[in-house]
Amino acid sequence: MYLHPLLQQMKSSMTFSGDLEEDVSSFLRLHNHPHTAEHCLKVGYEAGRLAARFGCDADQARAAGFLHDISAIIPNNQRIDAAREWNLDILPEEESFPMIIHQKLSRVIAEQVFGVELTPVLEAIECHTTLKAPSTLLDKIVFIADKIEWDQSGQPPYLAELLSQLDISLEHGVYVYIEYLWSRREHLKVVHPWLIDAHTDLVTSLRLRRD
Ligand SMILES: [Fe+2]
Ligand SMILES: [Fe+2]
Repeated sequence: MYLHPLLQQMKSSMTFSGDLEEDVSSFLRLHNHPHTAEHCLKVGYEAGRLAARFGCDADQARAAGFLHDISAIIPNNQRIDAAREWNLDILPEEESFPMIIHQKLSRVIAEQVFGVELTPVLEAIECHTTLKAPSTLLDKIVFIADKIEWDQSGQPPYLAELLSQLDISLEHGVYVYIEYLWSRREHLKVVHPWLIDAHTDLVTSLRLRRD
């Protein structure tokens, strides 16, 4: 199978043991991203716990969590070029704020460098920042695990509310975070269209449940 040179380079940069957790951690450390390595493992564990709680496949959730930010090794100013060379769809919002395309780049690395074949896992990686509509149980779990284990310092401002709403349902928890972003949308650099779709979808489905 043809592999783009950058992906080939990633693949030959180390020996893969076949143990995903160990390989993700070694790979990110090797490429000087120890902080992301730690974050990815925590998101993987959290996703596994949420999967067990909400009736989803815990192995798939862990795998998607471990790999979700694997594209951190590509610097921001090279992300659009990489996406273009890998023939990905690039939205105008991604072009103007390349950080948000890292979710799509992570999917490619997960598939082509780490050999992940399960489409549900790849899709959950691909929408972990913005969610999308419709979204699967696995998509929501990986999305919310990433927000619980956020990669910035201190406690996320939405965390307490999110955790308490998770006691009602996974969707209620997801809604807390999406509403938090939504209320700040004027201040966001860009609002990704997938996030807009996810917001509409969630508002509709929670309202339907209430009626
Ligand atoms: Fe991310
Ligand atoms: Fe993350």
